Amino acid sequence: MLLSSTKVVVNLPIDIILIMKRIAVLTSGGDSPGMNAAIRAVVRSAVFHDIDVLGVFKGYQGLVEGDFKKLHVRSVAKILGRGGTILKSARCEEFMSEEGRAKAIENLRNNNVDGLVVIGGNGTFTGALKLFNEYGFPVIGLPGTIDNDLDGTDNTIGFDTATNNVIEAVDKIRDTADSHNRLFFVEVMGRDNGFIALRTGIATGAIAVMTPETEITVDGLVQVLEEGQKNKKSSSIVIVAEGNSSGGAYKLAQEVKKRTDQYDIRITVLGHLQRGGSPSCSDRVLASRLGIEAVEALINGVTNSMVGVVNDSLVHTPFEDAIANKIHTLKDEVRIARILSI
Ligand code: F6P
Repeated sequence: MLLSSTKVVVNLPIDIILIMKRIAVLTSGGDSPGMNAAIRAVVRSAVFHDIDVLGVFKGYQGLVEGDFKKLHVRSVAKILGRGGTILKSARCEEFMSEEGRAKAIENLRNNNVDGLVVIGGNGTFTGALKLFNEYGFPVIGLPGTIDNDLDGTDNTIGFDTATNNVIEAVDKIRDTADSHNRLFFVEVMGRDNGFIALRTGIATGAIAVMTPETEITVDGLVQVLEEGQKNKKSSSIVIVAEGNSSGGAYKLAQEVKKRTDQYDIRITVLGHLQRGGSPSCSDRVLASRLGIEAVEALINGVTNSMVGVVNDSLVHTPFEDAIANKIHTLKDEVRIARILSI
């Protein structure tokens, strides 16, 4: 196990390490394909190490409400290939208050829970960090989000499947776009960043990828489209990240129409279909690997960290670093997308 930073995850004293007899696991925030595989890995590795597991339903909401259920080896049978999360998920306002967290900690203590595994994204780890800072409660996080926007892991659980969902859809759009010589604006998820947009833009041969990172203006886009016309492109796909600064797919299409009428434009917003479906092999393996490490980290007294995989090695990153901005890693993708779109 590697530590990704000198700010260091916390290693608890040995007496706390010895009382790791029961852990709880929850999924929170937007669900992602592979969360079930992660739950399964947590449950099975805990049982393997002779530790009880409680499943917490509806994320932090379930912690606040005490919605716990004991999970056995068979409770997680045949969920490896299922999308979504058997534990349900939620974005919980109450947990964001001190009172909410006090209720959560009381429920954890009343149920004799010694450690918690949280599976989710930015918001989930912000909550976990508060739980650790305010109560010193041992928490380990697994990166479960399609957005891939967490530092300390090359890929988050669900990103690979979601991007495969996108390219499957865009390949179909390409067939019809090409038949009619059309220009399509396809909007993909990713509120604050363009990981999904850039990855899928490269994989589908998009003429342009509009994300907070590429910073292409509408005028710049029109210029790129004109170059495409000159180069005799018969159809064009523009991938737009939902968090793009000059607007989503509808707004951009409108702005392009205002500037030129030479394109037959159509728009598709892929939305939540990106989050569903059976997880890919990569996501299942990643989730399984991380789930085992989460349990073994708790056993070894490691807390306040997200487990990730960087360069094929397991890495622990403190929550505060994991939720910091990962945008710098996209420079290469921006360059590739630009060069290959001519
Ligand atoms: O964080 C995952 C994500 O799918 C984002 O890409 C998207 O912006 C958001 O969740 C959508 O949230 P909701 O499912 O609450 O509409």
